[in-house]
Parts: sequence; structure tokens; C-alpha cells
Amino acid sequence: ITDTYRLSNGKTIPCVGFGTWQTPNETAVESVKNAIKCGYRHIDTASQYGNEKSVAQGIKESGINRKDLFITTKLWNDDRGYDSTLKAFDKSMKELNLDYLDLYLMHWPAVGKDGDKINHETWKAFEKLYKEGRIKSIGISNFLVHHIQPLIDKAEVKPMVNQLEFHPGYTQPEIVQFCHKNDIVVEAWSPLGSGSVLKNPKLTEIAKKYNKSTAQLCIRWCLQNKTLPLPKSVTPERIIANTQVFDFNISDEDMKIITQLPKMGFSGLYPDEN
Ligand code: A2P
Repeated sequence: ITDTYRLSNGKTIPCVGFGTWQTPNETAVESVKNAIKCGYRHIDTASQYGNEKSVAQGIKESGINRKDLFITTKLWNDDRGYDSTLKAFDKSMKELNLDYLDLYLMHWPAVGKDGDKINHETWKAFEKLYKEGRIKSIGISNFLVHHIQPLIDKAEVKPMVNQLEFHPGYTQPEIVQFCHKNDIVVEAWSPLGSGSVLKNPKLTEIAKKYNKSTAQLCIRWCLQNKTLPLPKSVTPERIIANTQVFDFNISDEDMKIITQLPKMGFSGLYPDEN
């Protein structure tokens, strides 16, 4: 997990991140601290998760050097727009107790009649903070092709990352290919389908062949698809196990079988009108 991807602005990003969605404050401090102890150097949170303060506490208690960490947080939907983005960013920085951020993402695209305009205004604030050096890299999350194209058309700085739901059973090929073609790193949220794909018999069968758990197979499959998995766990053994994904290779044939599994584990969070 010290391996990195290279972003379009030349910065590096650790190729597995520690996800904290649905990690409540009671467990966030311990699990973040534990993850850092296990070697994670990339932590993914969001203001909407309500745990930025606990994430910061976990980082502090780990004793790690700030410069050795890669920290991501996200702008929530209510805070879109130029001025409110700047304000929300300051608030997140205070919660996280940081003086610079590695990656800031727009959590969801605005959609509908004024969607593109709102996304553009929000992005302008991202660009300002990026140019000031307060954020090292900027990106988006859950943007599909018809959200991202208008943003890129007008953007001064192209997003370096798009974070998407991506796991066996939900692979969003159109947007993933678009991002790869445009040198945008795809981060995979819910790489285990929030745990729901782990009992799939085909995945279990393939995992066994490699002497790995189904979770490790899913994480490895993300990496071999050139996406950046963000597995979440509050369980110490799983936090470690989810990093042990660099000592095996899924064959091309098995990659194909996994990728072609029917739809499963979908969060339902991408509304149809998107
Ligand atoms: P827990 O946090 O209780 O350990 P995703 O990353 O796709 O959102 O999935 C997170 C879910 O998967 C959580 O419910 C987490 O449970 C569970 N999980 C994470 N890692 C593993 C693992 N190695 N084996 C089994 N379940 C896991």
C-alpha cells in the first residue's frame, strides 16, 4: 500500500486508501489510528460523514508525520457555490486540524437545469484553493460523463480524481473509460459493495484458488482495473487483511469473469435522472 498512482499534476497518491464512510465517531479514532499503524497512508473522509474531527484525532494519536499522509475530504452538496465552498473548506480544515489538504472532492454533481452552472462555480473555488496551495490536488466524485464533460470544457484546472462506486457487480465502464482516457484517476468507493458482494459464490470460488479472502480478491481486482480502492473497516484483522493484496495476481481470464458478474451490491445512490 505504499505503491502509488501518479496524478495528472505530477503528485503521487497511495494506491489503496482507508475509507471512513459509515464509520461513526465512536469507532473512527481507533480505526484510523489502527489503519495508520497497519501501513495505510491515505485516509478518505468527507464532511458529510460527520467524522472529520475523529479522523483528525486518530491521525494525531498515530503519531505519524503529516507529510507522510495523504488526506482527502469532500465538499457536501449543501455547500456548493463559490463563496459557500470556500467557507465549507475552511470548516473542514478546522475539523481536520490541517493547514493543507492533499485532495478535495466535490462529493456529488449538481444536476438539473442549473446543475452545470453550479458545478462550474463550485469548481472555480476549488481552483482558487488549489492555486493558493491550500489543496495539493482537486477532484470530483460521482460525476458521470454528462456531468464531467461540461465541467472540463470550462475548467482551467482539470480534475485529477473522480471517486465512483466501483466493485464487482457495479463497474460503470463508460465513466471509468472516460476518466482513464482523460488522465483522471478513478477511486473506487465501496470496493466490497459495502460488504454485500463478499458472499457471492463465484467470487468466493475464485478467491479460494488464490488462497485469498473474497475481500482481498475484490481489492486486487480494483487495482488490476487501475482504480484506487478505498476499503472501509472498523475491524482490526480486516484492516490488515485488506492491505495484503500485493502478493498475487488475478489472471486475465478471472479478471474478465469477475468484471462480467451480474449487477449486485449497488448502493442505489445514483439516481436515474443523473
Ligand atoms: P466492518 O467495518 O464491520 O469490518 P466497503 O469498503 O465496500 O464499503 O465495505 C465495507 C463493509 O465491508 C463493512 O461492513 C466492513 O465491515 C466489511 N468488510 C471490510 N473488510 C472486510 C473483510 N476483509 N472481510 C469481510 N468484511 C469486510
